[in-house]
Amino acid sequence: MKLKNDLILRAARGENIERYPVWLMRQAGRILPEYREVRASLSGFKELVETPERAAEVTVQPVDLLGVDAAIIFSDILVVPEAMGLSYQMVESKGPYFEKTIKSEDDLNKYAEFEFDVEDRLGYVLDAIKITNKELYGRVPLIGFAGAPWTIFCYMIEGQGSKTFSKARKILYQNPTLAHDLLNRITEVTIQYLKAQVKAGVHMLQVFDSWAGILGTEQYAEFGLKYLDKIAKAVNEVPLTLFAKGAFTSVEAIAKLDCNTIGIDWNMDITKIRENIGESRTLQGNLDPCALYASHSEVERLTNNMLNSFSSKRHIVNLGHGVYPDIDPEKVKTFIKTVKNYELK
Ligand code: CP3
Repeated sequence: MKLKNDLILRAARGENIERYPVWLMRQAGRILPEYREVRASLSGFKELVETPERAAEVTVQPVDLLGVDAAIIFSDILVVPEAMGLSYQMVESKGPYFEKTIKSEDDLNKYAEFEFDVEDRLGYVLDAIKITNKELYGRVPLIGFAGAPWTIFCYMIEGQGSKTFSKARKILYQNPTLAHDLLNRITEVTIQYLKAQVKAGVHMLQVFDSWAGILGTEQYAEFGLKYLDKIAKAVNEVPLTLFAKGAFTSVEAIAKLDCNTIGIDWNMDITKIRENIGESRTLQGNLDPCALYASHSEVERLTNNMLNSFSSKRHIVNLGHGVYPDIDPEKVKTFIKTVKNYELK
């Protein structure tokens, strides 16, 4: 189906745009009461992720209710480790929890499978993509996603969130062979999974490396970028965004990978990054998610400040990380309205 609004795809490819496109990371779920209502009608987050009709419904909600320029498929980065044999629970107000974790080479064969049919084990996400596109009927593009190998590795080793991810980092020093083996397996599955999402109908892809910032530059090159590079080389059917949160010192290296867009968090300076990488890539970001706690007029001012710092059309507007759960949707609307009203120079 022909897209009625393809602004974000044109911005990603560096083509001409009439205005900057805008969407929010974690826009599906988290802030909308309409999302919580759907989740409350089921046993919880996982059932919602695994029920394609309902996942499609909450994917479309931000398009209807907030007016964003793209939808992102409602799912989670943790469906990949689960498909590999490591299942998780989503513990209410705590986050993900894996009963088993990877501790040895032996565990890899049990809990880090990589030779299986992705379309079979993750068919529920692919079905949700197909249903979502029917419900969107071309209003906006649909973004597919996966976690970056390094971030998925962190969860498979730690089994839950962590401030330091020191178990995951310990392995990099004590058993780098095991680390690379696991990272290769995750990469293999992720490439298959991203390609399957494209086949199912997504128009664009984003890879989230949420824990990139906990590694030093050299270690991130070896255990992070190396695998992002493999993904970027293998997946080129649709525009690709790489978001390596906190990887300040690696932005120039990421800009050399085969991607269209680089996600920028709010601690990074857009002007400096643009000076360093030139015009060959689109930048996505980067309003501080906490800025949406400010008053409406302040949200407008801060958003305009950010837009004024853009020196070209190669931008996709977003926050610097996912929208926080207790943000007032009305503030999100002010953010979006400000972007839509901004006149491109
Ligand atoms: O962007 C979207 O709205 C699409 C859906 C989406 C979810 N998770 C749904 C979700 C996306 C893109 C993700 C990505 C994700 N999941 C990341 C990378 C992005 C980032 O924010 O850094 C990470 C690290 C995860 C792992 C994860 N899933 C955690 C740590 C948690 C618990 C805390 C939290 O972030 O909410 C989740 C649960 C989760 N994933 C929820 C949603 C809507 C909340 C579950 C609920 O209470 O309904």
